[in-house]
Amino acid sequence: MLNSALSYFPDQDAVTEILKRFYVENGKDKKRPYDDVPKLILKPTLFAQQMLIASTFVEVWLAKEGHSGQVGMNLLEKIQLAIPAQIFGAMLAGVDYLLIGAGIPAQVPRVINSIVNGQSLTMKIDVGDTNDKLVLNFNPAVINNVTYPLSRPRFLAIVSSHALVSYLNKDVETKPDGYVIEYHVAGGHNAPPRGKNSTNAFGEAVYSEADLPNLEKIRASGSPFWLAGGFGTPEKIKAAIELGAQGVQIGTLFALSNESGFSKEIRTEILASLDSGQLRVTTDAGASPTGFPFKVVHIDSTLSDINLFNQRTRKCDLGYLRTPFKRESGGIGYRCPAEPIDTFEFKKGVTEDAIHAKCLCNALMADIGLAQLRPDGRLELPLVTIGSDLDGAMDLVKIYADGWSAQEALNYLIGV
Ligand SMILES: Cc1cc2nc3c(=O)[nH]c(=O)nc-3n(C[C@H](O)[C@H](O)[C@H](O)COP(=O)(O)O)c2cc1C
Repeated sequence: MLNSALSYFPDQDAVTEILKRFYVENGKDKKRPYDDVPKLILKPTLFAQQMLIASTFVEVWLAKEGHSGQVGMNLLEKIQLAIPAQIFGAMLAGVDYLLIGAGIPAQVPRVINSIVNGQSLTMKIDVGDTNDKLVLNFNPAVINNVTYPLSRPRFLAIVSSHALVSYLNKDVETKPDGYVIEYHVAGGHNAPPRGKNSTNAFGEAVYSEADLPNLEKIRASGSPFWLAGGFGTPEKIKAAIELGAQGVQIGTLFALSNESGFSKEIRTEILASLDSGQLRVTTDAGASPTGFPFKVVHIDSTLSDINLFNQRTRKCDLGYLRTPFKRESGGIGYRCPAEPIDTFEFKKGVTEDAIHAKCLCNALMADIGLAQLRPDGRLELPLVTIGSDLDGAMDLVKIYADGWSAQEALNYLIGV
């Protein structure tokens, strides 16, 4: 399947090189670890760029295979170094929508417009919490045999406040085609609470009325919007439409469906917990290296167990959430709060940011059955995220105790 998707990639020389370096016929030996892929950096090699573009191409190509529906790809603004290459790969596969949250995606409309015409572009990259910026250069010419112009996907910014809607709408350079307005019960990362002292004694982010988006102001902006976070029931969809939304974005019901990337063991355990009314989902203020609150499902054998988290040997080998910082010597380094604490401190990272930080890169790979094998024989452990509004999932587990398909979730949502 992967090979057939790659056979549609425009640059077949790049594909040959990727397969030569990484493809293992019939899958790798379970006793061997996965090889390292190139890390995200400001000046990546040609091969690293081609691999990132091709991998995003494959993801979208496979999602579009076998139907005529529309496909959107959801990216994290926080992983800035990957954005141009990922957008390009997705556009080569004909992605219909790009959705970007976890940050302020003000540069994305300009990036998309340049890529449509195959023009090289620059993107400003944040340097930690400082006001400094670095520049990432990206040239679509790293991929050969592309016919321009590419068709332009619609771009929706995922935000949690009307203030961000007015900020992004101010300038045509930053204005998206619409918005996904995400409430803080949503799965994955959430916007930080607005109030001061908003972390409780258990390290959970605590939200208040002030964190609810003002839909009146958002409607008045004239931009189309969709609602997300706790909209996974037929009643909530109806309410969203009545509030002026074009529709809703739902994650949790599909993350728990049979087709989801989550491994079967994880889904089975979550469904059993859900069925017995015991499932606990919290908003962990310190788990994500991004500094954003992150929804965590408390189930066995995952990093939600503090003992298992403390037993893990910290290692940063995937590095997607690393951010650049300026070394005292003047050069650029990269650091992540989830890397070994002494290394992070040596790089002048703030210890407090590191203490609870979990390696989401390795944990999310483990979630989908691709846990890395460590030299001492241990496998990296999962850390699972879903939303904290479980109404839709509770309805579905009553009908389908052994799990539901994405189609069954859709039938439930639209009342078929
Ligand atoms: C497993 C999972 C992973 C997610 N990953 C992302 C992500 O990478 N980027 C993002 O913008 N949203 C992400 N989300 C949020 C969804 O896009 C969606 O907005 C949210 O799940 C909607 O709320 P719900 O969980 O109540 O359905 C994720 C959600 C889940 C459940």
